[in-house]
Amino acid sequence: MDQAYALLAAAGSGTRLGFAKPKAFVELGGRTLLERALDGLAASEAISHTIVLVSAEMREEAEDLINAEANRAAWAGMGVSVALGGGERMDSVFAGLEELINRQVPEDAVVAVHDAARCLTPPSMIRRVVDSARHGITHSLYSGSIPVVPVVDTIKVVEQATSGPADGEILLEQTPAREHLRAAQTPQVFALGELIEANQQYLRTVEISSAHASRMGGTQPLQAATDDASLMELAGKRVTAVEGDLLAMKITTALDYRIAQMLLDEQTEEE
Ligand code: CTP
Ligand code: MG
Repeated sequence: MDQAYALLAAAGSGTRLGFAKPKAFVELGGRTLLERALDGLAASEAISHTIVLVSAEMREEAEDLINAEANRAAWAGMGVSVALGGGERMDSVFAGLEELINRQVPEDAVVAVHDAARCLTPPSMIRRVVDSARHGITHSLYSGSIPVVPVVDTIKVVEQATSGPADGEILLEQTPAREHLRAAQTPQVFALGELIEANQQYLRTVEISSAHASRMGGTQPLQAATDDASLMELAGKRVTAVEGDLLAMKITTALDYRIAQMLLDEQTEEE
């Protein structure tokens, strides 16, 4: 229970960022996003071991990075290993969970699922989320915690019209009250056993509904989960939200990358 594990999702291709290399291996201020994300996890002093999920093509490069002497020294106190991710982010996380099962990590261990793309996440925030999750799990209050930030835009629910006069247009459906909306960040931290259960339950639902859809001649109706807490919600598990940090922004587009560069410059000036 005292040990917290991290699964670091780094197996994406970074299509929207548009660099030649997969996003986690792109450098920001002379250090890859992957290394920076590991710097943050190690500096939080809340994680004893991190499993990095990468694609088959990048496995060797990832191994080289984590075995570099300077990095080993920088992450002293946190073990790091590499495992093979999957086609979608949730497949990568599931592969990480299987790795933890293989390592016989106890079900009441705490697991933090983090995006390599959120490489500037402050270590203090990581610790805050892990502490909150551990508190909830220890006292059986809730099964995990995630960092969130307020939403600044007005969010619309839309639907593309498939018939009628506006056929093909995107039509407004609803405007959820902003006070109830939050943007989810990572790391998202849960009791390992509960997260495994939520993932297995979701996979079963996907199998059933896609079998149903193919009988009905339709396409797969369930959307791929874009975060881990959504699987916990679907499984009816209680998860709390704690204060996130704007520095934990996900680097997705070229604009995000430029903003991250500026933030990094500011940090270096302050040091
Ligand atoms: N990720 C992963 N396995 C996948 C897809 C994504 O581990 N099959 C990881 C990414 O490496 C990233 C995080 O999940 O750290 C968040 O995903 P995203 O920002 O979408 O990154 P990419 O999928 O790489 O980017 P894009 O969608 O633009 O291709
Ligand atoms: Mg993606």
